[in-house]
Amino acid sequence: MLTIPAKEFAQRRSFLLTHIEQDAVVIIKAANSCERNEGVEYPFRQESNFYYLSGFCEPEALLVLIPNRVEGQFILFCRNRDPALEIWTGLRAGQEGAIKNYGADQAFSITELDNIMPQLLNGRSTIYLLMATQQGLQQQLVGWLNVIREKMRQHAKPPQTFKALEPIIHEMRLYKSSNELAIMQYAMDISAKAHIRAMQECKAGLYEYTLDAALEYEFRKGGARLVAYNSIVASGANACILHYQENNAQLKSGDLVMIDAGCEIACYASDISRTFPVNGKFSAEQKAIYEIVLAANLAAIEEVMPGKRYQDSHNKAVEVITKGLVELGILKGNVKTLIANQAYSEFYMHSTGHWLGLDVHDVGAYLISGKSRLLAEGMVLTIEPGIYIAPDNMQVDECWRGIGVRIEDNVVVTATGHKVMTDNTPKMLADIERLMA
Ligand code: GLY
Ligand code: MN
Ligand code: MN
Repeated sequence: MLTIPAKEFAQRRSFLLTHIEQDAVVIIKAANSCERNEGVEYPFRQESNFYYLSGFCEPEALLVLIPNRVEGQFILFCRNRDPALEIWTGLRAGQEGAIKNYGADQAFSITELDNIMPQLLNGRSTIYLLMATQQGLQQQLVGWLNVIREKMRQHAKPPQTFKALEPIIHEMRLYKSSNELAIMQYAMDISAKAHIRAMQECKAGLYEYTLDAALEYEFRKGGARLVAYNSIVASGANACILHYQENNAQLKSGDLVMIDAGCEIACYASDISRTFPVNGKFSAEQKAIYEIVLAANLAAIEEVMPGKRYQDSHNKAVEVITKGLVELGILKGNVKTLIANQAYSEFYMHSTGHWLGLDVHDVGAYLISGKSRLLAEGMVLTIEPGIYIAPDNMQVDECWRGIGVRIEDNVVVTATGHKVMTDNTPKMLADIERLMA
């Protein structure tokens, strides 16, 4: 199974350690394990930034980075080994494993947190924290700072400044290394097989969950333990609900089915959408809408290259979709005016993509100084235009109502242009019809 090598985790930590004040401290708390019901837990998924810097996949842990600390710069607090508990819930790294397998310079028991953290923070000026996701930690921190404050007469010096870690670590995460790209490609290849299986197994009378099971089968067979997000299997007008979750309707001949699904490998996401006819043949109306979305997808992908802006692909998709809807008579008026008035947003109400990485909606600024940012090598984004015509939209001819189409690819910016990482998931109309025949 593909993983990020220990050396790369170490490089990430040392990059971060050299890009913060040398008297600062970085603190990141692991994700909590989460109870589903009595004695049953949701599968554990590490906090993405914690994982990015350590590869450590246990709850009840705290990662601390301290530049220029003689005893070591990477400190990991983690659970103790516990043979009796490990029989029930699995092996733990323990402090020895944290050092040996995860490159920690020092490891302490998580039970020692309140004793040791005040010592580690004393004399440091700035604390870097994730502002968004770690509320529990902020309360603990107040306690540790109070311990230091109580010792100020003995020359203890509590940190004075809190800074958001997000701008630095998000910027690091935005640019994917070759190891990250290889893992993501693998996740996308499994997801491609899953979409193909769903197309092949699709027939009227089955249920949306039958196709969900086909996806899940390929995900798990490929080694994915988790989905990157809950699979969306939306037939007929359900496809007009952007993040439809029920997946329980019966598949009807004459309807389309829109699947938005991707697995997660080594915490990295894939995110693919395809739309196809339940009976394997697009009707004239479905074909007309599908071809507009496909044209928007292809044109938007052409905008992905170094030097272009993130927003350029969205603008292009909006242009193609608006023109297409005017040609079909679904929108009426002048294309430029309709774009300026965002008339398309009744049928295309989301943006054309997002960054992709450890999080399906990955981190990284979209605007720099108020302007859409320039694309650069190593960024991975989705291109996912769609058209959704609500079943109760009385403004449009009945023949269009309830049609929902999204076509989503994952694209990496290369030195000279882009590579569509999901091009082994069929999207050309003839290819889909051939596959389903
Ligand atoms: N699967 C969620 C999205 O496409 O953004
Ligand atoms: Mn998606
Ligand atoms: Mn997406």
